[in-house]
Amino acid sequence: MGARTQSPPIGSTTEHRRRIFHAANALTTIGLIFTGFLITYPDLRAQLIGGYALQLAEWHRLMALAFMAMPVAWVLKTPTELLQTVSWHLRSTWLDLWRKAHYGICLVASAILVVTGTVLWLDIEVSHTTLDATVGAHVVSTWVVFLTIPLHWLSVASRVVRAKRKQATERSHKAV
Ligand code: HEM
Ligand code: HEM
Repeated sequence: MGARTQSPPIGSTTEHRRRIFHAANALTTIGLIFTGFLITYPDLRAQLIGGYALQLAEWHRLMALAFMAMPVAWVLKTPTELLQTVSWHLRSTWLDLWRKAHYGICLVASAILVVTGTVLWLDIEVSHTTLDATVGAHVVSTWVVFLTIPLHWLSVASRVVRAKRKQATERSHKAV
């Protein structure tokens, strides 16, 4: 297996940073989906919190800043590691097809969310049709990320169960 296809060594600082990035990214993504959906669906907002439209938009923008600052901070800390980690994932032989697809979906959806989110935030002057398409792409990408999360959890859970079973089998083989 060539160096490009190996996963970051367990216990390395790269692996450590990758885990911290994942945790922070997961938290902000979930917060952005939650506030985003409450902005898109006023009836849901009325039922769940009964208002706060302006505050939600503020929170959404703050979380969006954190969401975008994290990869920037990683690149400032160590210029090549983020790119190297993305390349490891996309070229890996250690990720199954679903995990690779999930990785690709997260990358593409995040890029669309950042570009369309910036257009909305900066109030960039565009035609009505372009504005509708921008909001549409922001909301569709949100749905895509949202729907992949339970599949991601199932995949993680099944990996944990399989690893535990393998450990138990190995232990019982050793005991014989
Ligand atoms: C509380 C929610 C989540 C939990 C418990 C969780 C758990 C995990 C675990 C255990 C891993 C493998 C170990 C690792 O790479 O650190 C992983 C990997 C990953 N997660 Fe999550 N995750 C969550 C949310 C998310 C969200 C919201 C996204 C993106 C939208 C995401 C994207 C990824 C990606 C791209 C990977 C690397 C590829 C892989 O190993 O499958 N995760 N997650
Ligand atoms: C995981 C990332 C993100 C998710 C899931 C998400 C989701 C959403 C959703 C569903 C809406 C409501 C759209 C509507 O119906 O009008 C929204 C609005 C918005 N988003 Fe995001 N977003 C994300 C990232 C971003 C980023 C990175 C930015 C900024 C660069 C951003 C800026 C905005 C702005 C300015 C609005 C309009 C808020 C308002 O009504 O004043 N979003 N977002």
